[in-house]
Amino acid sequence: MLLVRDLEQVASPAGTHAPLRGGDLGAVDVLEDAYVLCDGDTIAGVGRMRDLPRLDGDVVELDGRGRCAIPGLVDCHTHAAFGGDRVDEFSLRAGGASYEELHAAGGGILSTVRATRAAGEDGLRTAVERHRGWMRRHGTTTFEAKSGYGLDRDSELAALRAIRDAGGVPTWLGAHAVPPEFDDGDAYLDFALAEVLPEAARIAEAADVFLERGAFDLAQAQRYLEACRDAGLALRLHGDQFTELGAIPLAIELGARSVDHLEATQDGGVRALAASDVTGVVLPASALFLDRPMPPARALVDAGAAVALATDFNPGSAFCESLPLCCSLAATQLKLSPAEALAACTVNAAHVLGRADALGRLAPGYRADVVLLDAPDWRYLAYHLGGDLVAEVVIGGELP
Ligand code: NIG
Ligand code: FE
Repeated sequence: MLLVRDLEQVASPAGTHAPLRGGDLGAVDVLEDAYVLCDGDTIAGVGRMRDLPRLDGDVVELDGRGRCAIPGLVDCHTHAAFGGDRVDEFSLRAGGASYEELHAAGGGILSTVRATRAAGEDGLRTAVERHRGWMRRHGTTTFEAKSGYGLDRDSELAALRAIRDAGGVPTWLGAHAVPPEFDDGDAYLDFALAEVLPEAARIAEAADVFLERGAFDLAQAQRYLEACRDAGLALRLHGDQFTELGAIPLAIELGARSVDHLEATQDGGVRALAASDVTGVVLPASALFLDRPMPPARALVDAGAAVALATDFNPGSAFCESLPLCCSLAATQLKLSPAEALAACTVNAAHVLGRADALGRLAPGYRADVVLLDAPDWRYLAYHLGGDLVAEVVIGGELP
């Protein structure tokens, strides 16, 4: 057993259901002067120190004085499997070049495709493990990661295996960009669906598509997602990042788990998403990194949508692995409360990954993934902008 004792606070999203919507998103249970008790990889109890029962047997104790415990953070949208970097492109953008122009000129995603193909399977494994380490230092105990920078059979499958073997939740982003060896999106999809999908569906849990001008159009996204659904994959979409091209109606029609980005979503999209079972995943680090408008997260929550918060960690549009930083952006830019931000990157993110019964709360029966914040109040999660906030991470009841 592992006992984390004398914590200033233990904070956990309230309730037992998922996803949390509307007023429920901001309901956090907070215990002062509290403990978290882990039995193996499962949480056995959470309570006030004065109510701590007598414990027999082997108990390792961790001092929680000056610290707060929150659930292990769940990053439900990353692109952690890539080779190389885009620091040159970043510098060009700082000088005024736009992300879309660089993409259209064969840079952007396609420059990472070249570097990812060159990295090979070993290089990708090393990259994913390195990125997992970065995420953990910021309190992420579960990460999803997408392929999508290989775009040929071997590199896509190598990326998915690297993600799975590093303990991540793999998503096949087989429709991220049209690689240079194909003339158009339809020809590429003919190949990807025939040659890559059958094996990708054995490794990945979900499929994702970039529905956007310069990437895949609505008909191509529909074709790709329907084939992936028929192969047993859950569905996700990159939608409304730059332009509204019908991602939300398509996601609803196909029963997708999520639509992610939403920087360009207007009122009609907000209402449609709120009335559906599709989660809206907001990625404020990406909007910040590209100097784009922020997604309408406040309007989505107020309208009753299920909203999750993620980093979008990738080399081009969001070189940021920190969910605490995203919580700060959620508070200052998206006008979500710290409590709403916490629930959005724990319970609701776990829901997007189909794991809300086991992840996202500090309560008996949940997996013993715990983040100890070096802070006297758990709301430092959003308050300490870019701070060195994470003192300790417990994963499955162990200190990795
Ligand atoms: O989510 N928008 C599409 N894909 C990624 C960015 C990929 C890249 O720039 O390398 C995103 O922002
Ligand atoms: Fe993304």
